[in-house]
Amino acid sequence: MRLVLVGPPGAGKGTQAEFIAAHLSVPKISTGDIFRANVGQKTPLGIEARSYMDAGKLVPDEVTIKMVRSRLDEPDSTDGFLLDGFPRTIAQAENLDELLDKAGTPLDVVLELVVDDDEVVRRLSGRRTCRGCGRIWHVEFDPTKVDGVCDRCGGELYQRDDDKPETVTERLRVYAEQTAPLVDYYGAQGKLVGIDATGPVEDITTRAIDALEPFN
Ligand code: AP5
Ligand code: ZN
Repeated sequence: MRLVLVGPPGAGKGTQAEFIAAHLSVPKISTGDIFRANVGQKTPLGIEARSYMDAGKLVPDEVTIKMVRSRLDEPDSTDGFLLDGFPRTIAQAENLDELLDKAGTPLDVVLELVVDDDEVVRRLSGRRTCRGCGRIWHVEFDPTKVDGVCDRCGGELYQRDDDKPETVTERLRVYAEQTAPLVDYYGAQGKLVGIDATGPVEDITTRAIDALEPFN
């Protein structure tokens, strides 16, 4: 299955992407994770992306599109993929459609995670991420697990630089302005399914898998 996850910052895309991708046996491709790995390694791409990310802005389309195109060229994406965090602008969506249409492998479905702004702010303010395995935790919603080390791999947990309150506000603004229009874009193609992304993580995963079933 070729699937895109869309939703505001903190909607739980990264959390759900892991379970959904495993269920569908497709690779999870997260542009945020790829950028953060490049920032950590101080690659030229990471150095360029960092200033945008820290300000809560989008990395320019040309840079992001080039990166995703090269990731989709890898052999593990041939039989399907889950894109988390891409596309995020209409230009990125059009570019992706063009690429996939040319290959005769269009997107099957776009899953929207619907959550309101207050919940997003609560989620992002308590998020912790593992440097070792990338597992996403939360100080309030996953409290027994957060003691500075990852329960899964023993790696160090850190707070993302872009989860500061001022940056979160800017990310929400950017989402409303540049990314939310994708809901209408994919809706017009008949490819959009939305689910309520509040409540326990496992319930949302079940809702997502049920919603995707007809497209599989
Ligand atoms: P990216 O990493 O994609 O950030 P984002 O879209 O803002 O999404 P987040 O990772 O913040 O949230 P999420 O929805 O994955 O939520 P999570 O599962 O972690 O992008 C970062 C930056 O990179 C961008 O700002 C931009 O600069 C750049 N970038 C990336 N892609 C780009 C693109 N295509 N074009 C241009 N620039 C791009 O969950 C959040 C928290 O909530 C966690 O603590 C989690 O434990 C908790 N949680 C999850 N589910 C629940 C639940 N059901 N109940 C309670 N808590 C929950
Ligand atoms: Zn870990």
